[in-house]
Amino acid sequence: MAIIIDGKAEAALAIDAVKASHATFEAESGIKAGLAVVIVGDDPASHAYVGAKGRMAKECGFHSVQHTLPRETSQLDLLRLIEALNADPVIHGILVQLPLPDHLDAEPVIQSIRPEKDVDGLHVMNAGDLATGLISCTPAGAMLLVSRIHGRDLSGLNAVVVGRSNLFGKPMAQLLLDANATVTMAHSRTLDLPAVCRRADILVAAVGRAELIKADWVKPGATVIDVGINRIAAPERGEGRTRIIGDVDFSGCKEIAGAITPVPGGVGPMTISMLMNNTLAAAKMSAARPLQQHWFPLSSPFG
Ligand SMILES: NC(=O)c1ccc[n+]([C@@H]2O[C@H](COP(=O)([O-])OP(=O)(O)OC[C@H]3O[C@@H](n4cnc5c(N)ncnc54)[C@H](OP(=O)(O)O)[C@@H]3O)[C@@H](O)[C@H]2O)c1
Repeated sequence: MAIIIDGKAEAALAIDAVKASHATFEAESGIKAGLAVVIVGDDPASHAYVGAKGRMAKECGFHSVQHTLPRETSQLDLLRLIEALNADPVIHGILVQLPLPDHLDAEPVIQSIRPEKDVDGLHVMNAGDLATGLISCTPAGAMLLVSRIHGRDLSGLNAVVVGRSNLFGKPMAQLLLDANATVTMAHSRTLDLPAVCRRADILVAAVGRAELIKADWVKPGATVIDVGINRIAAPERGEGRTRIIGDVDFSGCKEIAGAITPVPGGVGPMTISMLMNNTLAAAKMSAARPLQQHWFPLSSPFG
C-alpha cells in the first residue's frame, strides 16, 4: 500500500512559509506583496477559482485586487487593463484567469504581462528560464510533492511525464530534468504507453482522460503524481451530481505504487500555494532582493 501524498497538508505548510516570509519582508521593506487577478465573463468555476485565490492572497497578508470584466470586453480593453497593472507599482503579480471567452485571444494577453509580474509563469520568458524566472504554478507544486518523496536530486531515477502541454507537461519535464532525472515525455502518439509508464520511478499523468493509467502500468514502488482533473457523473450522490477523478486509477495503482497523489487533494491544492509563493517572489524581485529558488518556497519546512 502506497504512501498517500497529502497535497492539502503540503499546501498548508507552503502557505505558512509564505505568510512568515511575507511578514518579515513587509516589516523590513514596508512593501506588501500585491496580486491582481483579472477575470472576464461569468463562468462559475472560474469565479470560484478566482475567489479562492483572492481569499488566500488576503490570508497571506498581501494587497489583493480583483478586476471582474464583462463577457463582451474587447481584446483592446483587456490589454489596456494589463498595461495599467504592469505600470502599477503596488501590483507585483498579475494573473489572468483562463480560459477567456472565445472572442478573446489569450496568448497575446499572457505575453503582454511583464515577465516579472507573470506569477502564473506562462510568459515565454519565464517558460524558457525555469532557473531564475517565475515557474508555472502547477508544475512547481507537483515538483514540490516529488521532492517530498525523493529529495531535490533525482539522479539515477527515470521520470515519465504523460502529456506534453505548454501549461503543464513541458515545464514539468524541464523541472524533472533540472533535478537530474532521466525524463521521457509521452503523449497521444506514444507507442505502447503502458510499457513506457512501467519504466518510470516517477510517473506524472497530465492528460485529461479519467483513470487512463492502470495498476499494471505502474512499476512497483514508483511515485505516481496525478495532475488530471476529470468531472464525471456521480448518480450515487443524487441526480445530476458529479465528482472529480484523476488520470490515474487510484484504487488499483495505490496497491502497486510506493507513493501516490489522490484526486482531489493531491496536486490541485498545491497550485494556489505556488501562486502565493510566486507573488511573494515577484514582490521581493521588485524590491531588488535576490530571488530565491522559489519552487522550494523558503526551504525550512521542506528541508
Ligand atoms: N491545478 C491543477 O491541478 C491542474 C492544472 C493544469 C492542468 N490540470 C489538469 O491536467 C490535465 C492535463 O491538462 P493539460 O492542460 O496539460 O491538457 P492538454 O493541453 O489537453 O494536454 C493533454 C496531453 O495529453 C496527451 N494525451 C491525450 N490523450 C492521450 C492518451 N490517450 N495517451 C497519451 N497521451 C494523451 C495529449 O497528447 P498530444 O499532445 O499528442 O495531443 C496532450 O499532450 C487536465 O485534466 C487538466 O484539467 C490540472
